[in-house]
Amino acid sequence: MKRKGARHAIQASVAAFDAPYQIKVFPKPEEARRLIHDALMPNLLFRACSSEELYELVDVFRPKRCPKHVDIIREGSEGDGFYVMEKGQVDVFEKDAYKCSLQRGHGFGEIALLYSCPRTATVRAKEECELWMLDRQAFREITARHKRNRLNMKMSLLAKVCACFLGQ
Ligand code: CMP
Repeated sequence: MKRKGARHAIQASVAAFDAPYQIKVFPKPEEARRLIHDALMPNLLFRACSSEELYELVDVFRPKRCPKHVDIIREGSEGDGFYVMEKGQVDVFEKDAYKCSLQRGHGFGEIALLYSCPRTATVRAKEECELWMLDRQAFREITARHKRNRLNMKMSLLAKVCACFLGQ
């Protein structure tokens, strides 16, 4: 009886991690999917993501336009998401000092999401830009769910090993 109770306790804690979530998918052409995927691959924010996780993340990027001279990101503000450039060019400034320009295929906005800190730079549209944006909430929900799934798999395996060991 005691042993059975232990197994049920492990199974119950596995089930407790299965919280549902609602994510909006934005269908996009294959070329845009590839552009976003290739921008995520070298970025520190997505280093620990599996290929399935990357696929889901690409799904939820939404299109965003930004007029010329408008700040897409303001230094010191809260991190709302991660961006990938499709068209146009942006300039990056740290404390009003020009650092570099980014264009098609570049991603930016990972630092505030990675370290939960304020934005480290201002990113300003040098010309009208078309971007893809992944909002922070979607990023957190998808990556947290994949982490939970990995943990669930490990816990299930552990429950099976325990059951075997206890002769059940
Ligand atoms: P984050 O701090 O979230 O928001 C501003 C973004 O600008 C930052 O993430 C980086 O993605 C990018 N960034 C900051 N500093 C530089 C830099 N010196 N060169 C290129 N990109 C930068």
